[in-house]
Amino acid sequence: MNILVCGGAGYIGSHMCKLLARSGHRPVTFDNFSTGHEWAVKWGPLIRGDLLDPAAITEAFRAQRIEAVMHFAALSVVPESVRDPGLYFRNNVVGTLNLLDAMRVANVTKLVFSSTASVYGNPQYTPIDEAHPCAPINPYGWSKLMAERLLAEHCRAYGLRAVALRYFNAAGADADAEIGEAHEPETHLLPNIIRAALNPALGPVKIFGDDYPTPDGTCIRDYIHVEDLCAAHLLALDHLDRNDGFAALNLGSGTGHSVAEVLAACRARCAGRPDSTLQPRRDGDTTVLVAGNAAASRALGWQPRRGLEDCVASALAWHHRQS
Ligand code: UFG
Repeated sequence: MNILVCGGAGYIGSHMCKLLARSGHRPVTFDNFSTGHEWAVKWGPLIRGDLLDPAAITEAFRAQRIEAVMHFAALSVVPESVRDPGLYFRNNVVGTLNLLDAMRVANVTKLVFSSTASVYGNPQYTPIDEAHPCAPINPYGWSKLMAERLLAEHCRAYGLRAVALRYFNAAGADADAEIGEAHEPETHLLPNIIRAALNPALGPVKIFGDDYPTPDGTCIRDYIHVEDLCAAHLLALDHLDRNDGFAALNLGSGTGHSVAEVLAACRARCAGRPDSTLQPRRDGDTTVLVAGNAAASRALGWQPRRGLEDCVASALAWHHRQS
């Protein structure tokens, strides 16, 4: 199939393009390069365009004979969303609405959407399943929940078929180290640990709080390998062949790891580096975020195959190649 990959130049989108191409599809990247990279677009045509430009999206559908859409194009830095919510709602919600409009015009009915665990807000229990109430605590989470609602209403009213995949903490890199996570500035834990390990001039990695009610006092997250995420997207495309309507599914490994465990896993591979420095808690961090992934397993026949060690090893290989 010709698949429009919005945000195909980004971290997860570029890994998706590689998997799509390997699986016999033709990924067409549509990206505004606000955070993506031209070097990451290697597996199909590139359209430089913005979801806030309806004419550009409509033209992409027409020119490339698009048959399905994967939508990764979003801003995703939580503190930035708190400072500038308008930017996030315009980009993540209005951009998604423009995409849905263009899909209707082009009569394309299949959409796989990148959502986030941030739609749940502060967990009331763990692991979090899809029945957990959705109560975002920042504009980023709200923007994704609002986009999910747009999808659900379009499914109900216009015959769209959509799956929203709620990612927990995406991590790791391509097994061939051709592409990987490259944000600027980088806010995520694992790439920050690795950067500090490979380049001691950057100083020690910051650890935000060690007084949480967890066994070692640091926050616990569910790190899901980017290749496992992409495998689930591919299965979600098949799911849309068989099922109409809207579904929202968690994508996580189902296992939690503390910040200290991630640091230790990296140190074990980097001759004890990096050094760390303890900082106050970061605003908005919740203590534990772990996915219940039974629904994705049932609906998609998906199982995550890679653990924290694979995330660390593949991310290290990718960063080594950059340095
Ligand atoms: N952390 C550090 N030092 C760092 C970076 C992070 O100690 O340099 C800690 C954080 O305080 C947190 C944990 O590492 O406890 C994970 O933080 P990340 O920034 O890597 O990831 P988050 O869990 O904050 O957020 C990620 C994505 C969001 C997404 C969310 C869903 O960045 O977009 O997962 O769970 F919404």
